[in-house]
Amino acid sequence: MDNPIWGADWAQVRANWTLDPEVTFLNHGSFGATPRCVLELQSQLRAEMERQPVLFLDRTLRGKLDQSLAAVGSLLGTSPKNLAFVPNATYGINSVVKSLDFGPGDELLIVEHGYGAIIKTLQCVADRTGAQVVLVSIPFPVESPDEIATVVISALNERTRFVVIDQITSPTAMILPVKPIVDACRERGIYVMVDGAHAPGMLPFNLDAMAPDFWSGNLHKWVCAPKGAAVLYVRPELAQRIEPVVTSHNFGMKFPEEFFWTGTDDPTPYICVRSAIEFIAGLGWARVHSHNHALARYGRRVVAELIGGGLPVPDSTEYYGSMAIVEFPSKVKFKTIEEARAFQGRLYERYRIEVPMMVIDGRSLLRLSAQVYNAPGQYERLGEALRAMLK
Ligand SMILES: Cc1ncc(COP(=O)(O)O)c(C=O)c1O
Repeated sequence: MDNPIWGADWAQVRANWTLDPEVTFLNHGSFGATPRCVLELQSQLRAEMERQPVLFLDRTLRGKLDQSLAAVGSLLGTSPKNLAFVPNATYGINSVVKSLDFGPGDELLIVEHGYGAIIKTLQCVADRTGAQVVLVSIPFPVESPDEIATVVISALNERTRFVVIDQITSPTAMILPVKPIVDACRERGIYVMVDGAHAPGMLPFNLDAMAPDFWSGNLHKWVCAPKGAAVLYVRPELAQRIEPVVTSHNFGMKFPEEFFWTGTDDPTPYICVRSAIEFIAGLGWARVHSHNHALARYGRRVVAELIGGGLPVPDSTEYYGSMAIVEFPSKVKFKTIEEARAFQGRLYERYRIEVPMMVIDGRSLLRLSAQVYNAPGQYERLGEALRAMLK
């Protein structure tokens, strides 16, 4: 489609969400948002569970989970045998890092644009084992994906035992060149985990072709499943090494069996994943990807123009997908993340516009999300509101 963001059919698509019409919601990236039909299914499943909890949780749950996991396997290009549901990417990544043995002198590597909670997870394991966290700073603004791969690969050495590489960074919304980094780690016998928190549903990719040791990604973000749905991939040869962070009845059965029961919980987000995938597939994955990218591209341009801001990420689908950042003009300098959040809060209070702001490498940024329920006018509204606030 040449111009995929305007059209009557997108207005109809928007009606499928239950988002507050008073709010200009440009932050799908943080927690996702789920279409009404999937939420209705979740309510039905919860009602079914409450009518006969033992039948639901003990006797029929596994079949429902298997069906949903098969749909995830088809979407991500791997066998469902290599996958387990987890409540979120943080849980998936924690399970891997805490299953492996590290010792004094070992290096656990992550890029500086990595997600804060994951950097802390590595720090927690490093503190317990005497390992060290190595934060690699990546060129920003970047001139080519090769530049990033080269910097990360050059930081590998004989002490590097574990690498986490983001498929899409959280603060800068950048797609990172994971494949050459995965290959370099595997050639050197270094464990490599891809943090795919934002990737499912935003980018087309194939896990078998990517072939990392471990990967975890959220389904509650860009697949639009209910909150508390994510997935962990473990390369079959490593399945015996990985346990969930919570030990329960399936202890000893290893990956993925142990993940199927980690104590009583509400499994309806996992069961609903299949219908979330079907919902987006009904709109057309390629059409959704191109709509969302075109809208993010439009949004970042219009906001940058209205506030006199910068675009530090190159204009290409190679660098960003359905999220994009805009740099504030030089007169706006958030000194701390708290200052950025305070400004974000004032924008919300005055204009009911939800958009995250952050500081990275001393640059003050905002991150736009574009999902099928968003419309071009919302970014124009954001740009006008910011312009008024910055006067
Ligand atoms: C890159 C990255 N990793 C991990 C996470 C954690 O996701 P969750 O809070 O769902 O575990 C996020 C959340 O936005 C993220 O952006």
